[in-house]
Amino acid sequence: MNEDLMKATRLLPCSVVLLSVGTKESQDAMTATAMFVAEGVPLLAISVGKGTTSHELIEKTGEFVLNVASVGQVGLARMLGSTHGRDVDKFKRFEINVEKASKIGSPLIAGSFANLECKVITSVPASNYTVYIGEVVAYKVDDTQVPIAWHRDRYFSLDKEVR
Ligand SMILES: Cc1cc2nc3c(=O)[nH]c(=O)nc-3n(C[C@H](O)[C@H](O)[C@H](O)COP(=O)(O)O)c2cc1C
Repeated sequence: MNEDLMKATRLLPCSVVLLSVGTKESQDAMTATAMFVAEGVPLLAISVGKGTTSHELIEKTGEFVLNVASVGQVGLARMLGSTHGRDVDKFKRFEINVEKASKIGSPLIAGSFANLECKVITSVPASNYTVYIGEVVAYKVDDTQVPIAWHRDRYFSLDKEVR
């Protein structure tokens, strides 16, 4: 493994999403980054580590929610990105407030900038990850919240326009 080339992936500024997935019986959330794929049919992509609990649950349910993280959720993003659902019930441990999704069974995370309900339409294995393409089937947005980005291991607030 080339340590220096591995750093290349960190040069890309990334969206921050709190991915939530599951059923009443078993649910999980992890921090991830998502990218735009298409808008005619609204498609987004995520790449999920094969060893994660979220991966197991996406395989089981064929869906996920992308909760676009807000400034107030930086602490939650850190915690969801450094703990595993197999060790801890993150919803209980981090006292996450959830809301019911309108079109799928996975829970929405309250306090996010936006909640995007997605159904998996296809997936591609890539190294020890699976890239899932999800179709957005419903969404809501809270314009009072400010979204964040992740760059070089730091979080940034997206409330300053540059011209
Ligand atoms: C800012 C940030 C972005 C991350 N992006 C991803 C990602 O896109 N895909 C991924 O598999 N893990 C990503 N992670 C790591 C997961 O959140 C982490 O492995 C998590 O513990 C998995 O939880 P789970 O086992 O409960 O599913 C990211 C972590 C952080 C802090």
